[in-house]
Amino acid sequence: MKILIAGANGLLGASIVPLLAERFDLWVHDVDSWDITCGPAGEELVCRYRPDVVLNLAAMTDVDGCEGASELAEKVNAQGAAIVADLCGKAGTKLIHVSTDYVFDGKKGLPYCEDDEPNPASVYGRTKLEGERMVFEKLPSAVVIRTQWLYGKTGASFVEKIIRAAGEQGSVRVVNDQTGSPTYAKDLAVPIMAVIEKGLTGIVHVSNSGSCTWYEFARAIFSLKGMDVEVSPITTRELGRAAPRPPYSVFDLSRLERDTGVRMRHWMEALKEYLA
Ligand SMILES: NC(=O)c1ccc[n+]([C@@H]2O[C@H](COP(=O)([O-])OP(=O)(O)OC[C@H]3O[C@@H](n4cnc5c(N)ncnc54)[C@H](OP(=O)(O)O)[C@@H]3O)[C@@H](O)[C@H]2O)c1
Repeated sequence: MKILIAGANGLLGASIVPLLAERFDLWVHDVDSWDITCGPAGEELVCRYRPDVVLNLAAMTDVDGCEGASELAEKVNAQGAAIVADLCGKAGTKLIHVSTDYVFDGKKGLPYCEDDEPNPASVYGRTKLEGERMVFEKLPSAVVIRTQWLYGKTGASFVEKIIRAAGEQGSVRVVNDQTGSPTYAKDLAVPIMAVIEKGLTGIVHVSNSGSCTWYEFARAIFSLKGMDVEVSPITTRELGRAAPRPPYSVFDLSRLERDTGVRMRHWMEALKEYLA
Protein backbone atom coordinates (compact mmCIF):
# COMPACT_ATOMS: atom_id res chain seq x y z
CA MET A 1 0.00 0.00 0.00
CA LYS A 2 1.28 3.48 -0.92
CA ILE A 3 0.77 6.45 1.40
CA LEU A 4 1.37 10.13 0.65
CA ILE A 5 1.88 12.21 3.80
CA ALA A 6 1.44 15.98 4.26
CA GLY A 7 2.97 17.80 7.25
CA ALA A 8 5.38 14.89 7.77
CA ASN A 9 8.16 16.86 9.50
CA GLY A 10 6.11 17.88 12.54
CA LEU A 11 5.94 16.26 15.96
CA LEU A 12 3.51 13.53 14.91
CA GLY A 13 5.02 12.90 11.49
CA ALA A 14 8.59 12.56 12.75
CA SER A 15 7.35 10.07 15.38
CA ILE A 16 5.28 7.78 13.17
CA VAL A 17 6.93 7.93 9.72
CA PRO A 18 9.70 5.43 10.61
CA LEU A 19 7.09 2.96 11.94
CA LEU A 20 4.69 3.36 9.01
CA ALA A 21 7.64 2.90 6.65
CA GLU A 22 8.08 -0.66 7.97
CA ARG A 23 4.67 -1.62 6.57
CA PHE A 24 3.86 0.80 3.71
CA ASP A 25 5.54 2.60 0.81
CA LEU A 26 5.65 6.26 1.87
CA TRP A 27 6.12 9.60 0.17
CA VAL A 28 6.68 12.22 2.83
CA HIS A 29 6.21 15.93 2.30
CA ASP A 30 6.00 19.09 4.37
CA VAL A 31 5.10 22.67 3.58
CA ASP A 32 8.24 23.35 1.50
CA SER A 33 7.36 20.61 -1.01
CA TRP A 34 3.57 20.38 -0.50
CA ASP A 35 1.69 23.37 0.87
CA ILE A 36 -1.78 21.91 1.45
CA THR A 37 -3.41 25.28 0.76
CA CYS A 38 -2.20 25.03 -2.84
CA GLY A 39 -4.56 22.83 -4.87
CA PRO A 40 -2.36 22.35 -7.96
CA ALA A 41 0.63 21.25 -5.81
CA GLY A 42 -1.44 18.50 -4.18
CA GLU A 43 -2.99 17.50 -7.49
CA GLU A 44 0.42 17.17 -9.09
CA LEU A 45 1.66 14.89 -6.27
CA VAL A 46 -1.45 12.70 -6.29
CA CYS A 47 -1.24 12.36 -10.10
CA ARG A 48 2.47 11.56 -9.92
CA TYR A 49 2.33 8.96 -7.10
CA ARG A 50 -1.23 7.60 -7.36
CA PRO A 51 -1.24 6.78 -3.60
CA ASP A 52 -3.78 4.45 -2.00
CA VAL A 53 -4.01 6.72 1.05
CA VAL A 54 -3.27 10.37 1.83
CA LEU A 55 -2.42 11.05 5.49
CA ASN A 56 -2.86 14.72 6.32
CA LEU A 57 -0.84 15.77 9.38
CA ALA A 58 -0.36 19.36 8.19
CA ALA A 59 -1.85 22.06 10.38
CA MET A 60 -1.24 25.38 12.09
CA THR A 61 -0.84 24.02 15.62
CA ASP A 62 0.35 27.06 17.60
CA VAL A 63 -2.82 27.24 19.72
CA ASP A 64 -2.11 30.69 21.18
CA GLY A 65 -0.65 31.98 17.91
CA CYS A 66 -3.89 31.06 16.12
CA GLU A 67 -5.83 33.56 18.30
CA GLY A 68 -4.05 36.49 16.64
CA ALA A 69 -3.80 34.89 13.19
CA SER A 70 -7.28 33.52 12.59
CA GLU A 71 -7.14 34.05 8.81
CA LEU A 72 -4.01 31.97 8.46
CA ALA A 73 -5.38 29.31 10.86
CA GLU A 74 -8.57 29.18 8.80
CA LYS A 75 -6.58 28.93 5.58
CA VAL A 76 -4.45 25.99 6.73
CA ASN A 77 -6.68 24.11 9.19
CA ALA A 78 -9.99 24.50 7.36
CA GLN A 79 -9.43 25.41 3.69
CA GLY A 80 -6.22 23.37 3.39
CA ALA A 81 -8.04 20.32 4.79
CA ALA A 82 -10.87 20.86 2.30
CA ILE A 83 -8.47 21.14 -0.64
CA VAL A 84 -6.79 17.85 0.32
CA ALA A 85 -10.17 16.10 0.74
CA ASP A 86 -11.36 17.45 -2.59
CA LEU A 87 -8.35 16.14 -4.48
CA CYS A 88 -8.63 12.75 -2.72
CA GLY A 89 -12.28 12.58 -3.76
CA LYS A 90 -11.43 13.33 -7.40
CA ALA A 91 -8.56 10.83 -7.45
CA GLY A 92 -10.47 8.08 -5.61
CA THR A 93 -7.84 8.06 -2.84
CA LYS A 94 -8.58 7.25 0.79
CA LEU A 95 -7.97 10.13 3.22
CA ILE A 96 -6.93 10.06 6.86
CA HIS A 97 -7.07 13.53 8.37
CA VAL A 98 -5.84 14.30 11.91
CA SER A 99 -7.75 16.55 14.30
CA THR A 100 -7.88 17.49 17.96
CA ASP A 101 -9.64 17.30 21.33
CA TYR A 102 -9.79 21.12 21.22
CA VAL A 103 -12.96 20.82 19.10
CA PHE A 104 -14.69 20.21 22.48
CA ASP A 105 -15.41 22.83 25.14
CA GLY A 106 -14.40 20.42 27.91
CA LYS A 107 -17.55 20.89 29.95
CA LYS A 108 -18.91 17.33 29.63
CA GLY A 109 -16.98 16.01 32.63
CA LEU A 110 -17.01 12.49 31.13
CA PRO A 111 -14.90 10.98 28.34
CA TYR A 112 -15.87 12.32 24.90
CA CYS A 113 -17.33 9.96 22.28
CA GLU A 114 -16.96 10.57 18.56
CA ASP A 115 -20.58 11.69 18.21
CA ASP A 116 -20.54 14.17 21.11
CA GLU A 117 -21.37 17.67 19.96
CA PRO A 118 -18.22 19.77 19.45
CA ASN A 119 -18.13 23.34 20.74
CA PRO A 120 -14.62 24.74 20.34
CA ALA A 121 -13.53 27.64 22.53
CA SER A 122 -10.39 28.70 20.62
CA VAL A 123 -9.57 29.78 17.05
CA TYR A 124 -7.43 26.65 16.71
CA GLY A 125 -10.32 24.41 17.80
CA ARG A 126 -12.84 26.23 15.64
CA THR A 127 -10.68 26.07 12.50
CA LYS A 128 -9.84 22.39 13.11
CA LEU A 129 -13.57 21.64 13.48
CA GLU A 130 -14.29 23.50 10.24
CA GLY A 131 -11.57 21.38 8.65
CA GLU A 132 -13.24 18.17 9.87
CA ARG A 133 -16.62 19.27 8.52
CA MET A 134 -15.22 20.29 5.15
CA VAL A 135 -13.34 17.00 4.89
CA PHE A 136 -16.59 15.02 5.29
CA GLU A 137 -18.47 17.38 2.99
CA LYS A 138 -15.93 16.79 0.20
CA LEU A 139 -15.26 13.13 0.97
CA PRO A 140 -17.83 11.31 3.13
CA SER A 141 -15.66 8.17 3.21
CA ALA A 142 -12.76 10.00 4.89
CA VAL A 143 -11.41 9.17 8.34
CA VAL A 144 -10.77 11.88 10.94
CA ILE A 145 -8.52 10.71 13.76
CA ARG A 146 -8.82 13.05 16.74
CA THR A 147 -5.90 12.94 19.15
CA GLN A 148 -4.57 15.01 22.06
CA TRP A 149 -1.69 16.08 24.33
CA LEU A 150 1.03 14.68 22.02
CA TYR A 151 4.68 14.49 22.97
CA GLY A 152 7.71 13.13 21.18
CA LYS A 153 11.39 13.78 20.55
CA THR A 154 10.81 16.60 18.07
CA GLY A 155 8.59 19.64 17.89
CA ALA A 156 6.85 21.58 20.65
CA SER A 157 6.64 18.79 23.22
CA PHE A 158 5.53 19.48 26.82
CA VAL A 159 7.84 16.77 28.19
CA GLU A 160 10.98 18.27 26.70
CA LYS A 161 9.94 21.84 27.55
CA ILE A 162 9.18 21.10 31.22
CA ILE A 163 12.44 19.17 31.70
CA ARG A 164 14.35 22.09 30.18
CA ALA A 165 12.50 24.67 32.30
CA ALA A 166 13.12 22.67 35.49
CA GLY A 167 16.81 22.35 34.63
CA GLU A 168 17.09 26.11 34.14
CA GLN A 169 14.88 27.32 37.00
CA GLY A 170 14.85 24.50 39.58
CA SER A 171 11.09 24.95 40.05
CA VAL A 172 8.07 25.07 37.75
CA ARG A 173 4.42 26.17 37.94
CA VAL A 174 2.04 23.87 36.08
CA VAL A 175 -1.68 24.04 35.33
CA ASN A 176 -3.78 21.73 37.49
CA ASP A 177 -7.28 22.43 36.15
CA GLN A 178 -7.02 20.87 32.68
CA THR A 179 -7.43 17.11 32.45
CA GLY A 180 -6.56 15.02 29.41
CA SER A 181 -4.56 12.02 28.26
CA PRO A 182 -0.88 12.59 27.49
CA THR A 183 -0.13 10.63 24.33
CA TYR A 184 3.22 9.37 23.06
CA ALA A 185 3.04 10.41 19.40
CA LYS A 186 4.72 7.15 18.34
CA ASP A 187 1.72 5.23 19.75
CA LEU A 188 -0.49 6.60 16.96
CA ALA A 189 1.29 4.50 14.33
CA VAL A 190 -0.48 1.22 15.20
CA PRO A 191 -4.02 2.68 15.33
CA ILE A 192 -3.42 4.54 12.05
CA MET A 193 -2.30 1.29 10.40
CA ALA A 194 -5.33 -0.52 11.86
CA VAL A 195 -7.74 2.17 10.66
CA ILE A 196 -6.29 1.85 7.14
CA GLU A 197 -6.30 -1.93 7.11
CA LYS A 198 -9.84 -2.26 8.53
CA GLY A 199 -11.14 0.33 6.05
CA LEU A 200 -12.87 2.46 8.71
CA THR A 201 -14.64 5.71 7.87
CA GLY A 202 -15.82 8.58 10.08
CA ILE A 203 -14.30 9.93 13.30
CA VAL A 204 -12.06 7.85 15.57
CA HIS A 205 -10.71 9.02 18.94
CA VAL A 206 -7.13 7.95 19.67
CA SER A 207 -4.97 8.74 22.71
CA ASN A 208 -3.08 6.84 25.37
CA SER A 209 -5.51 5.60 28.03
CA GLY A 210 -5.91 6.98 31.56
CA SER A 211 -5.93 10.68 32.35
CA CYS A 212 -4.25 13.34 34.47
CA THR A 213 -3.77 17.09 34.73
CA TRP A 214 -0.68 18.83 33.31
CA TYR A 215 0.51 19.23 36.93
CA GLU A 216 0.19 15.49 37.56
CA PHE A 217 1.90 14.81 34.24
CA ALA A 218 4.83 17.09 35.18
CA ARG A 219 5.19 15.36 38.57
CA ALA A 220 5.24 11.95 36.86
CA ILE A 221 7.94 13.15 34.44
CA PHE A 222 10.21 14.40 37.24
CA SER A 223 9.59 11.33 39.36
CA LEU A 224 10.51 8.97 36.49
CA LYS A 225 13.57 11.10 35.65
CA GLY A 226 14.64 11.12 39.34
CA MET A 227 14.70 14.95 39.26
CA ASP A 228 14.17 16.87 42.49
CA VAL A 229 11.99 19.75 41.25
CA GLU A 230 9.53 21.95 43.11
CA VAL A 231 6.25 21.75 41.14
CA SER A 232 3.52 24.25 42.06
CA PRO A 233 -0.06 23.75 40.84
CA ILE A 234 -1.62 26.81 39.23
CA THR A 235 -4.88 27.57 37.41
CA THR A 236 -5.35 28.18 33.69
CA ARG A 237 -6.37 31.75 34.57
CA GLU A 238 -3.09 32.28 36.46
CA LEU A 239 -1.09 31.06 33.46
CA GLY A 240 -2.88 33.66 31.32
CA ARG A 241 -2.51 32.10 27.87
CA ALA A 242 -4.17 33.78 24.86
CA ALA A 243 -6.33 30.79 23.86
CA PRO A 244 -8.87 29.09 26.12
CA ARG A 245 -8.36 25.33 26.64
CA PRO A 246 -10.94 22.64 27.43
CA PRO A 247 -10.83 21.86 31.19
CA TYR A 248 -11.56 18.19 30.47
CA SER A 249 -10.99 16.52 27.11
CA VAL A 250 -10.41 12.83 27.85
CA PHE A 251 -11.56 10.55 25.00
CA ASP A 252 -13.80 7.52 25.12
CA LEU A 253 -11.67 4.98 23.21
CA SER A 254 -14.43 2.36 22.74
CA ARG A 255 -14.80 2.82 18.99
CA LEU A 256 -11.08 2.29 18.37
CA GLU A 257 -11.08 -0.87 20.50
CA ARG A 258 -14.32 -2.26 19.06
CA ASP A 259 -13.63 -1.57 15.37
CA THR A 260 -9.88 -2.21 15.19
CA GLY A 261 -9.07 -4.37 18.23
CA VAL A 262 -6.35 -1.85 19.21
CA ARG A 263 -6.12 -1.15 22.95
CA MET A 264 -4.08 1.93 23.77
CA ARG A 265 -1.61 1.56 26.63
CA HIS A 266 -1.81 3.76 29.76
CA TRP A 267 -0.11 7.15 29.46
CA MET A 268 2.22 6.31 32.37
CA GLU A 269 3.50 3.16 30.66
CA ALA A 270 4.13 5.10 27.44
CA LEU A 271 5.89 7.89 29.36
CA LYS A 272 8.17 5.37 31.10
CA GLU A 273 9.25 3.97 27.72
CA TYR A 274 9.75 7.46 26.30
CA LEU A 275 11.96 8.59 29.20
CA ALA A 276 13.91 5.33 29.50
N1 LIG B 1 0.64 18.26 19.11
C1 LIG B 1 -0.50 17.94 19.74
O1 LIG B 1 -0.54 17.87 20.98
C2 LIG B 1 -1.75 17.64 18.95
C3 LIG B 1 -2.91 17.38 19.69
C4 LIG B 1 -4.08 17.09 18.98
C5 LIG B 1 -4.08 17.08 17.61
N2 LIG B 1 -2.96 17.37 16.92
C6 LIG B 1 -3.04 17.35 15.45
O2 LIG B 1 -2.08 16.44 14.95
C7 LIG B 1 -1.64 16.88 13.65
C8 LIG B 1 -0.13 16.92 13.65
O3 LIG B 1 0.27 17.87 14.63
P1 LIG B 1 1.76 18.02 15.14
O4 LIG B 1 1.71 18.03 16.61
O5 LIG B 1 2.66 17.09 14.43
O6 LIG B 1 2.00 19.52 14.67
P2 LIG B 1 3.32 20.20 14.11
O7 LIG B 1 4.51 19.67 14.82
O8 LIG B 1 3.05 21.67 14.13
O9 LIG B 1 3.35 19.66 12.61
C9 LIG B 1 2.52 20.15 11.62
C10 LIG B 1 3.33 20.23 10.35
O10 LIG B 1 2.51 20.82 9.33
C11 LIG B 1 3.31 21.77 8.65
N3 LIG B 1 2.48 22.76 7.98
C12 LIG B 1 1.99 23.94 8.46
N4 LIG B 1 1.30 24.57 7.51
C13 LIG B 1 1.32 23.77 6.40
C14 LIG B 1 0.80 23.87 5.09
N5 LIG B 1 0.10 24.94 4.71
N6 LIG B 1 1.02 22.86 4.23
C15 LIG B 1 1.74 21.78 4.60
N7 LIG B 1 2.27 21.63 5.82
C16 LIG B 1 2.07 22.62 6.71
C17 LIG B 1 4.17 22.37 9.73
O11 LIG B 1 5.26 23.07 9.15
P3 LIG B 1 5.87 24.32 9.97
O12 LIG B 1 6.35 23.79 11.27
O13 LIG B 1 6.94 24.82 9.06
O14 LIG B 1 4.73 25.28 10.15
C18 LIG B 1 4.56 21.13 10.50
O15 LIG B 1 5.70 20.49 9.94
C19 LIG B 1 -2.32 18.22 13.41
O16 LIG B 1 -3.48 18.03 12.65
C20 LIG B 1 -2.72 18.68 14.81
O17 LIG B 1 -3.85 19.54 14.77
C21 LIG B 1 -1.78 17.64 17.56
